[in-house]
Amino acid sequence: MTIIVERRTLLAGAGAAAAALPFARAIAGTVPTMPSPRRITPIDDGWRFHLGHAADPAQDFGFGASHDTYAKSGDAGTPVATPKFDDSGWATVRLPHDWANALPYERFGPPGSEADKTGSYQGFKPVGRRFPANSVGWYRRRLDIPATEAGRRLRLEFDGATRDVMVILNGFFVGRSESGYAPFSVDITDFAVPGGDNILVVRCDVSLGEAWSYEGAGLYRHVRLVSSAPTHIRQWGVAVRSEVGAGRATIRIATELVNDGPAATVTLRSAVIGPDGRRLAEVVEQQVALPAWGGRTVDQVATVADPQLWSPETPHIHRLESAVIRDGMAVDADTTRFGIRTFRFDAKAGFFVNGKPVKIKGTCNHQDHAGVGFAVPDSLHRWRIEQLKAMGSNAYRSTHHPAPPAVLDACDELGILVLDETRQMSSNPEAMGQLERMIRRDRNRACVFLWSIGNEEVHRATATGAAIARTMKRRIYELDGTRPITEAFNGHFGEGASPVLDVMGFNYYLDGIDPFHAAHPDVPTIGTETASTVMTRGVYARDDKAQLVPAYDTDFPRWASTAARWWTLYDARPWLSGGFVWTGFDYKGEPTPYESWPSNASNFGQMDSCGFPKDNYYYYKAWWGAEPVLHLFPHWDWAGREGQPVDVWVHSNGEAVELFLNGRSLGTKTVERGRHLAWSVPYAPGRIEARSRHANGKRLVAVRETTGAPAAIRLSSDRRRLRPGEVAVIRAAIVDGKGREVPTAAKLIKFALTGPGRILGVGNGDPRSLEADEAEQRSTFNGLAMALVEAGPGGGALRLEAQASGLRSAMLPILTD
Ligand code: GAL
Repeated sequence: MTIIVERRTLLAGAGAAAAALPFARAIAGTVPTMPSPRRITPIDDGWRFHLGHAADPAQDFGFGASHDTYAKSGDAGTPVATPKFDDSGWATVRLPHDWANALPYERFGPPGSEADKTGSYQGFKPVGRRFPANSVGWYRRRLDIPATEAGRRLRLEFDGATRDVMVILNGFFVGRSESGYAPFSVDITDFAVPGGDNILVVRCDVSLGEAWSYEGAGLYRHVRLVSSAPTHIRQWGVAVRSEVGAGRATIRIATELVNDGPAATVTLRSAVIGPDGRRLAEVVEQQVALPAWGGRTVDQVATVADPQLWSPETPHIHRLESAVIRDGMAVDADTTRFGIRTFRFDAKAGFFVNGKPVKIKGTCNHQDHAGVGFAVPDSLHRWRIEQLKAMGSNAYRSTHHPAPPAVLDACDELGILVLDETRQMSSNPEAMGQLERMIRRDRNRACVFLWSIGNEEVHRATATGAAIARTMKRRIYELDGTRPITEAFNGHFGEGASPVLDVMGFNYYLDGIDPFHAAHPDVPTIGTETASTVMTRGVYARDDKAQLVPAYDTDFPRWASTAARWWTLYDARPWLSGGFVWTGFDYKGEPTPYESWPSNASNFGQMDSCGFPKDNYYYYKAWWGAEPVLHLFPHWDWAGREGQPVDVWVHSNGEAVELFLNGRSLGTKTVERGRHLAWSVPYAPGRIEARSRHANGKRLVAVRETTGAPAAIRLSSDRRRLRPGEVAVIRAAIVDGKGREVPTAAKLIKFALTGPGRILGVGNGDPRSLEADEAEQRSTFNGLAMALVEAGPGGGALRLEAQASGLRSAMLPILTD
């Protein structure tokens, strides 16, 4: 690959096309660098946490140093913000942290009441206005700001915190955030005392929520301290746009420089680094004149020859390394990950990546996981994306909020397209601020292919909705302009804000899709949300009393459909770009169809809340994935139902499948694209077996056997070697004497970890379970339980042991680096 070096000089006021100066290697390649021009310090550790009011149960504010009825700038009116406050009685926590997850489940009201329904939507975690004592949490820590930071700009970056968040440094209110999902940052330069005792306090109030499902509580994403020179690149101030041409890509770079000080002249060096770490191109802008306490945007163009394009199959990530050079010294540096690729929507032919048609096979997802709630470690986010990819999915919609950075990292690297969505569809300053932060943060992401400005908004079909959409769209185009926008409409397709959208987003209402296309044949379309099939893992009959739904592809709420109905409809229409299933994983809250105690988790996932596949996972794997699939269900443990018919289903992408019961053929059936096969089989214990024949000659066999009594525990994990901070998802199964998993077993498993790590939490995927998540024991649900093991620092061997009364125990070794 050729290295292409381009350089220009931007003289004061001369504009972007100023004359070129001879290239100076000393400036472009080997300038001395300050030891670390930009210092980024993660502050996930070292927090003290207090649930509830921090100092006085009646009032946390209003007893400042000099008065007791009001606060003043510099005297936040709470002793918690003063250095002498004693927080030694507070809990020690590490981020990500979700205090709601640790609270015991609690009833909100009598069965059938509105409060009961609300509680089920919140996953029966007692936070919110009904539980004021649990709805405020205080975080406090000393911030180590060395004396060498004097004269530099300092800011705190929060990736996200729920929900009404106040940041106090050294007694000063320094910032506030009103959304649990948008990232925010706070400039603390004026308030920090380099070399002094700096006390940081963050107060999170979750009395009000933003969603109709569980939302966690507190500092559930990362926080960091960023120190930069007065002359620096603005946070998310780099926009990289690539255009792919014949044999080369043109990289257009816009860099927003900020100068918090007297007028300065700097050089901006931008280098494109290829996926293999090689420097592919470099552009140098010399003599950039920055006004005092001002800034300017520098436009640069680089060229990359024979670019390695990003696509779902080839997720090549490039980096742009930006350096601000002043007086021959690099004073600030920033790294921006991006991808070189083209996306295109076509109203008649669907969606294209690099000119190739790609059908969107997506899932919608919330961001909680069993065991940890909202406090999902980065490596668990990645594990979740890996499971979705293994299902054959190539796209992710973060509902209904901007995706966590770790999800975007994983999607960039694993080739998963992302529909990124803002939380609040409005053009008021708060909502526009949230939107702007999402666009700036994510606009360089290789994986993000579409922006969503809203979901099922009440004003979607009105003139007000259209006006708001226009304002949001204008801003998105200013900040990005390389991706179209959509909005998720549930019905009313074509009305209100619809004409403003570049891509019409359909949530459900399959019958409205063809009429929309007939009336608007020139508008690209996508299924922003589909399916909502309800299924409980391992359950094969609806039982409303027990609050269980069958895992066959049969049950769904009024607005929704089966997997087979929506996917066959979308699959048959090339003009539909594809769609997003509601949901990839079960999540806490919204336990449709049982909106009542004790149901506290959804039934919508293709996987349960632990990530254990339900049967419909294999429907999608068969029709989305590339591999031959044969999945036979239900299990074959129906003691007491001898002679009675059992509905036996097969999900397979083969040509034909033959079914056998205890060696006797029950007939061969031909597979129809996008459909399952079904037999009604009178139950007889023993062995039921399916054999499939595939187009490539491959043959598969799937077997279910009647199992014996539970005899032992079996532990497994696809991650057996962890780096510090990484998480392994441990699957614990109950097996019989012959090592066969017992699909109905309910046993309490006690986990114990030895070595440098900890058990973060446990789960079992039962949507009604009221057992503690942050615990070291869990009952199995339909034979399975899960534990999350996190490696601590320092390396060494971990051993997870699992015991259950009357069963042979199990041990799983995990190595750490
Ligand atoms: C949609 C909504 C989702 C979820 C889903 C359940 O209407 O956008 O957030 O509630 O229904 O089917």
